[in-house]
Amino acid sequence: MAEKSFKYIILGGGVSAGYAAKEFASQGVKPGELAVISKEAVAPYERPALSKGYLFPEGAARLPGFHCCVGSGGEKLLPESYKQKGIELILSTEIVKADLAAKSLVSAAGDVFKYETLIIATGSTVLRLTDFGVKGADSKNILYLREIDDADKVVEAIKAKKGGKAVVVGGGYIGLELSAALRINNFDVTMVFPEPWCMPRLFTADIAAFYETYYTNKGVKIIKGTVASGFTAHPNGEVNEVQLKDGRSLEADIVIVGVGAKPLTALFKGQVEEDKGGIKTDAFFKTSVPDVYAVGDVATFPLKMYGDMRRVEHVDHSRKSAEQAVKAIKAAEGGGAVEEYDYLPYFYSRSFDLSWQFYGDNVGDSVLFGDSNPSNPKPRFGAYWVKDGKVVGAFMEGGSGDENKALAKVAKARPAAESLDDLTKQGISFAAKI
Ligand code: FDA
Ligand code: NAD
Repeated sequence: MAEKSFKYIILGGGVSAGYAAKEFASQGVKPGELAVISKEAVAPYERPALSKGYLFPEGAARLPGFHCCVGSGGEKLLPESYKQKGIELILSTEIVKADLAAKSLVSAAGDVFKYETLIIATGSTVLRLTDFGVKGADSKNILYLREIDDADKVVEAIKAKKGGKAVVVGGGYIGLELSAALRINNFDVTMVFPEPWCMPRLFTADIAAFYETYYTNKGVKIIKGTVASGFTAHPNGEVNEVQLKDGRSLEADIVIVGVGAKPLTALFKGQVEEDKGGIKTDAFFKTSVPDVYAVGDVATFPLKMYGDMRRVEHVDHSRKSAEQAVKAIKAAEGGGAVEEYDYLPYFYSRSFDLSWQFYGDNVGDSVLFGDSNPSNPKPRFGAYWVKDGKVVGAFMEGGSGDENKALAKVAKARPAAESLDDLTKQGISFAAKI
């Protein structure tokens, strides 16, 4: 069993890892100082592509096209770029044991990796229906989507079951993006989710009504208020039917499940302070253990604007938290410091010809503006959230670059709103004036 020592180890090979490596490289690391250890077989890439361009029937995105950090217009770090920058990229290597007191990690193959500073960037894993004991949930062609291997299985199944029937379980990000992707690939798609409307984590009933009608117009069938309670399979093990809790059943050649994710913190249980399901950090992504940082999906960090601790499972934060942690590490080495992380939450999604952006906090009362008629060829509408008389969140479907910038500004500035009616009347021009 080999033992290797590094000054810095980034554990994980996803979005945060890519952006942390980029920041280390731009600040300067000596050859052999930094290792990125990932259980994936490929160098860090922009994960959002997997549920969008990767599944296009034509002109699909493929690596090396979307390695980090192209998603934010940065340098594309190809596998060989790591070597050129003196960074050791250790792929197909799962860490199965972490001893934070001894500053060592052990891989599944038994190799030992020692570090002086560790950045935990293990991200999230999918929740599985088998975890909830759903009968038949281990049948073939019941698929999940997190990593590129999962996306390849989805692509294979799309080819194998061309034009077949797909059931999408879950009405969140994966549910909405994958239903669209399967429909574009000519599948007969039915979405099933338990809530009264899709994307309840963010959407109000009004916003959701637009997307549900738009999807229905595109031919996606939507079944709400129930869950998949069991699956049956053909004799070859491939799924053929989904049973719903409300008694209905649906034929299926492919099932995609997107019922949420959980942060990968198990390696560190009992060794580091946790909060809200993630690893607790300060505004520099330092954990309760000296020389250990946590970034991206796994970090529960102080969201300065709102004065509370949050975990954010979106790509913008994974990039920015990684950069912040590396900047803080490097500044501390030089006896300096960086400013506290002052994050403005930013989420987005794209499906069919739609594209929305959201900035801020979706709390308080909400109000819709613009044209939310799903039958219009170019829908363009938005929403504001108002709490204690101030606009705290802003959403827009079909916004231009300038309009999206205005959303960010209004969510950051949190200006007073005269009334909800006034916001509806003013629409995006309210944000544009900030
Ligand atoms: P990430 O999951 O990217 O990386 C974690 C890495 O750690 C993986 O490489 C994993 O293999 C590795 N790892 C974990 N445990 C390990 C171990 N024990 N040993 C070795 N390696 C280990 N967000 C958004 O804002 N807009 C969007 O459009 C999308 N779209 C999107 C699509 C899909 C399909 C997914 C799954 C997610 C999104 N997201 C998104 C969310 C976004 O991608 C997510 O928040 C970031 O990828 C989080 O970055 P991290 O680096 O924290 O985790
Ligand atoms: P999610 O939390 O967005 O949505 C999960 C959905 O499944 C919810 O609507 C939930 O109520 C529903 N659900 C829960 N149990 C169910 C059941 N038994 N049957 C049917 N539905 C059930 O999670 P997700 O869509 O799985 O996404 C996984 C992760 O990937 C998240 O971290 C998400 O942020 C990330 N992601 C983000 C984007 C984006 O930001 N555009 C895109 C894809 C994925």
